[in-house]
Amino acid sequence: MSYNLALIPGDGIGPEVAAAARRVLDATGLELTWTELPAGQSAFEQLGDPLPPATLAQVAEVDATLKGPTATAKGGGFRSVNVALRQKSKLYANYRPARSLPGIKTRYDDVDLIVIRENTEGLYSGLEHEVVEGVVESLRIITRKASERIARFAFETARRQDRQRVTCIHKANILKLSDGLFLDCCRKVAEEFSDIEFDDCIVDAAAMKLVSDPHAFDVLVMENLFGDILSDLCSGLVGGLGVTPSANVGDGIAVFEAVHGTAPDIAGRGLANPTALILSGVIMLRYLGEKETADRVEAAVGSVISKGETVTGDLGGGASTDEFTDAVIAAL
Ligand code: NAI
Repeated sequence: MSYNLALIPGDGIGPEVAAAARRVLDATGLELTWTELPAGQSAFEQLGDPLPPATLAQVAEVDATLKGPTATAKGGGFRSVNVALRQKSKLYANYRPARSLPGIKTRYDDVDLIVIRENTEGLYSGLEHEVVEGVVESLRIITRKASERIARFAFETARRQDRQRVTCIHKANILKLSDGLFLDCCRKVAEEFSDIEFDDCIVDAAAMKLVSDPHAFDVLVMENLFGDILSDLCSGLVGGLGVTPSANVGDGIAVFEAVHGTAPDIAGRGLANPTALILSGVIMLRYLGEKETADRVEAAVGSVISKGETVTGDLGGGASTDEFTDAVIAAL
């Protein structure tokens, strides 16, 4: 099969890990046509726009997009490209699996969680203003439409992957209206999926339980900010940001990216671990229906990591990004 794909190299280590992931996917034998698209700090410096309209238009047109991380200044500066891309392209579901990889020593074995994060609203709606000097207000938007949509996505994912249980993570004891609505929507959608168990857990208790007994959970669904925080926590359970992939999915449109950021501390030095973006490519292959090729790439990454001879510094090795990538291609 042949596919039209977009590649957003992004900023910092983005171009390094994007090139690595592209090399691995090209080595699978699939016919992949890539269009490189500008976005992020580099696009802002070169084109005066961190998310050019042409990039948005292409992302909507291609079969799928693989995206490197893009930089966002803390405090002032332009609005996050990630948040803008997810909202403008209606990529409403953020899918973040956290699975133990053989060969990566972590506190727990056999972690196998899926975090489903609502991607378009909550505190990331970007509605902030200064009421009076010294007092700012950020609006946390929760709608029935987006909450039912993300709950349905979570249950459909659970069913497709033969999972047992979906847990709604919330703070409905304090945020009675907003998270009360989110929880109600999850409960209502759960009634349509009688083959899958449903329960709920308050976000602070969930954070504690995740670090003390991650096997207690299966699929977790939550609003935007909680999902951002808990999915990073889950990536820490399985070996860190360098190995955790993700997908942003809408109706007929999808962007696959690592959970990590631009890692300015190691950018441009060939030290970055490209595993997270390669595994994001694996999820992309599954989304495209290329299950067998996806399994092959995943197994190749797993075999290089479990041998441990050619892994990058974050996993305790001394290999460069390119050496690791070459080893994965050889294993393929
Ligand atoms: P970060 O994820 O870039 O870095 C955190 C730590 O993890 C650093 O020590 C870094 O070296 C390490 N790390 C991250 N990815 C790695 C990899 N592939 N291999 C080896 N080590 C890796 O998070 P930080 O520093 O908070 O954010 C830096 C920039 O990235 C910010 O501008 C932020 O807005 C942006 N960002 C972008 C994201 C995206 O585009 N999806 C997601 C998260 C952050």
